[in-house]
Amino acid sequence: MKTFEMKTVIHFGENSLDRLRTIPYRRALIITDPFVVQSRMIDLITEPLKRGDIVYDIFQDVVPDAPVDKIAEGVKKFLQFQPDVVVAVGGGSAIDSSKAIREFAQKINDYGKVGLIAVPTTSGTGSEVTSFAVVNDTAARVKYPLVSDSLTADEAILDAELVRSVPPAVTADTGMDVFTHALESYVSTEHNEFSSALAEKSIEICGVFLLRAYLDGNDMHARQKMHVASCLAGLSFNTAGLGIAHSMAHQLGAMFHIPHGRANAMLLPHVVEFNANINKHSRSQKEYLPAVKRYANVAHILGLSNYNKVMSVRSLVNWIQFMQKEMNIPLTIQELGTIPPDAYFGSLDKMADAALADTCTANNPRVPTKEDIIKIYTKLWAF
Ligand SMILES: NC(=O)c1ccc[n+]([C@@H]2O[C@H](COP(=O)([O-])OP(=O)(O)OC[C@H]3O[C@@H](n4cnc5c(N)ncnc54)[C@H](O)[C@@H]3O)[C@@H](O)[C@H]2O)c1
Ligand SMILES: [Fe+2]
Repeated sequence: MKTFEMKTVIHFGENSLDRLRTIPYRRALIITDPFVVQSRMIDLITEPLKRGDIVYDIFQDVVPDAPVDKIAEGVKKFLQFQPDVVVAVGGGSAIDSSKAIREFAQKINDYGKVGLIAVPTTSGTGSEVTSFAVVNDTAARVKYPLVSDSLTADEAILDAELVRSVPPAVTADTGMDVFTHALESYVSTEHNEFSSALAEKSIEICGVFLLRAYLDGNDMHARQKMHVASCLAGLSFNTAGLGIAHSMAHQLGAMFHIPHGRANAMLLPHVVEFNANINKHSRSQKEYLPAVKRYANVAHILGLSNYNKVMSVRSLVNWIQFMQKEMNIPLTIQELGTIPPDAYFGSLDKMADAALADTCTANNPRVPTKEDIIKIYTKLWAF
């Protein structure tokens, strides 16, 4: 038996932040990062809360990648303030931190239901609708995706106005995170008709609007489309799971602080080649691995050549690399220019073990060995 459930009520489009005026709660703890407060974006959240007579406090110390020490500080704040709702405002780091803070605080002192309303300010993770929270054990230098239905937000508010200020490099990274979610869930071992429909729409939007949003951050039509695409991809992978681009990207984030979406984008061409067992030297084959047909569908949705299966997979890989080049995402670790070769190659063994153990690996369409993972990390250095 398979089950498809959408637990989160989604408010989207113009004036959707008005929902904060009428939420059925009285004490809101806003969890966000310093940018949201310093830029005064926070006023867009606090104004409707004030009009609804909802008392609020703000925890604004979220930092990228949800490190456990910041989560502990947030738990302290939560237990002091005793909210009946958490309003998570920010990118995936703020939303994942909020999920973890609420979860851990309620394990310490459960004084009844505390709601979670997620308000994303990046179009990337889809965390506003997923049961995932990726936390960063900074001491062990490993990122762990926590997965539990209890993490899922009750409501999500998608207002593209909040994304207008996202700088081009973050638009690029987060946009490729959306695409990676859609693609990995589309070929995952758990894919189903519901997840596929959501992923297909998300892929179609990325194909048309991601570059537009990158080239002109004030293109609000493109921004709105990408905001929805992010949520659709989140809904898709929430039921179908992801794959080894994510497992491997988590380690690059924990070990070398490569932004999550950027790490995914860099890994993705290699992961497609691995999952399809097709590279630039491949010839037509009698039989193909199961992911190949689905990658060919994706190439078709993106309007790429669909002459035969090998060409379709190659055109998909080329499209991903084209997007990387257009949006100034390096193709290799060497090109990043920030990681010494000794540090990178010295970490491969540990990163490969952690990637294999990562929960996203279980749904990858081709089962990887540790050597396969090390081979992909090695290619990523320079190819
Ligand atoms: N829970 C999930 O389902 C899920 C899925 C994928 C990734 N993740 C996790 O999410 C995290 C990444 O989240 P992200 O990519 O959204 O980035 P992020 O939340 O780390 O934010 C990246 C940067 O963008 C800034 N920013 C955010 N909104 C902005 C705005 N409107 N204008 C200007 N700057 C803005 C932030 O201050 C930060 O410096 C990673 O830890 C990743 O592992 C979670
Ligand atoms: Fe992701």
